[in-house]
Amino acid sequence: MAITSKTSLFALMVVFLHSCAHPVTAKSTNSSLPVVLWHGMGDSCCNPLSMGSIKSLVESLVPGVYVKSLMIGSNIISDTMNGFFMNANDQVTDVCKQLASDPKLKAGYNAMGFSQGGQFLRAVAQRCPNPPMHNLISFGGQHQGVYGFPHCPGNSSTVCDYVRELLNLGAYNDYVQGFLCQAEYWHDPLNEELYRNKSIFLADINQEKVVNPTYKANLQKLNKFVMVQFSEDTMVQPKISEWFGFYKPGQAKVTYTLQESPLYIQDKLGLKQMDKEGKLVFLTAVGDHLQFTNEFFKQSILPFLK
Ligand SMILES: *[C@@H]1O[C@H](CO)[C@@H](O)[C@H](O)[C@H]1NC(C)=O
Ligand SMILES: *[C@@H]1O[C@H](CO)[C@@H](O)[C@H](O)[C@H]1NC(C)=O
Repeated sequence: MAITSKTSLFALMVVFLHSCAHPVTAKSTNSSLPVVLWHGMGDSCCNPLSMGSIKSLVESLVPGVYVKSLMIGSNIISDTMNGFFMNANDQVTDVCKQLASDPKLKAGYNAMGFSQGGQFLRAVAQRCPNPPMHNLISFGGQHQGVYGFPHCPGNSSTVCDYVRELLNLGAYNDYVQGFLCQAEYWHDPLNEELYRNKSIFLADINQEKVVNPTYKANLQKLNKFVMVQFSEDTMVQPKISEWFGFYKPGQAKVTYTLQESPLYIQDKLGLKQMDKEGKLVFLTAVGDHLQFTNEFFKQSILPFLK
C-alpha cells in the first residue's frame, strides 16, 4: 500500500481536534505538587473538550496548582499527528527534556497519562528520574500493549483507518516500527518472540529484551502507580492491559492478571515489590474508554494529587 505523507494528513486531523469529549467542571482544596498531563491518541495538549477541561478541573480542585499539559511538537496539529506518527522513544526523550527544563517542576510532580499517554509517562518514570515523578496515574493506559485496534475516538476515522492498515500491513515491520507509535506497543500474543524481538518501545520498557536494572530502580521511586481500567472499554484490547494484564501466550481470549504474569512473578520491573509496599492502585471507572465523571475524579483521583 502507499504511504501517504504526513503533511497531507494534517488537514484530516483538524476533525480529530474536537472529537474527544470530557464533560467536566468543579470546586476547591489546598496547593500541592505540579501536575503533568500527557494526552492520548488523536488528542492534543490543548483541546478545550479534553485535556483543556481536565486542566481546568485540576486547577479548580487544587487551587494554585501548576498544571502542564504536554505538547509534542511546536503546535496543536503536530502534537496531534505526533500521537500517531512519532516514534514513542523520541516522544519520551522530548518529554524528558521538557520536564527537566521547566523550573516549576524541580521539586517533583504528579503525572496523569491518558490512554497511550499512560504507558508513555511510565517510560518517563523509568528513564528520566529527574525531576522526580511522585504519583503516576494512568487512565486507560495499555501497559502490556494492545492486540487489536477496534476503532478510534469519535467518528472521524480517516487517520485511524490509515493506522489500522499499517498495523495490518505488519506492526513488526521495521519500517512501521520506526515511526508508528501504536505499532511500538502492539503486542501479539500469538507470537511473543516476534514481539520481544521487534517492539522497539513496549518490549523495552517491559524488560522483555534485557532486564535494565535502572528501569526497575527508577519505577520504584514512585510513591503510587495508579492504574484506571474502564469497565466498558471498547477501544483497548484486551482492556486488562490497563491493569498491566494481558492475553496468555499462544491465543487471544484468555487473559492473565498482572500478578499472574511472568513480569510480576520474576519481578523484572519491581512491580511485585511495589505491590507488596502498597504502591500499586487498581481502580475501575464505569464507562467506555476515558469516560469518567467528575465525581469519580474527585473521589478516586484527587487524593493522589494532594
Ligand atoms: C457517530 O455518528 C453517529 C451518527 O452521526 C452517531 O449516532 C454516533 O453516536 C457517533 N458515534 C460516536 C462514537 O461519536
Ligand atoms: C528473535 O531473535 C532471535 C535472536 O536474534 C532469533 O534467533 C529468532 O529467530 C527471532 N525470532 C523471531 C520470531 O523473530
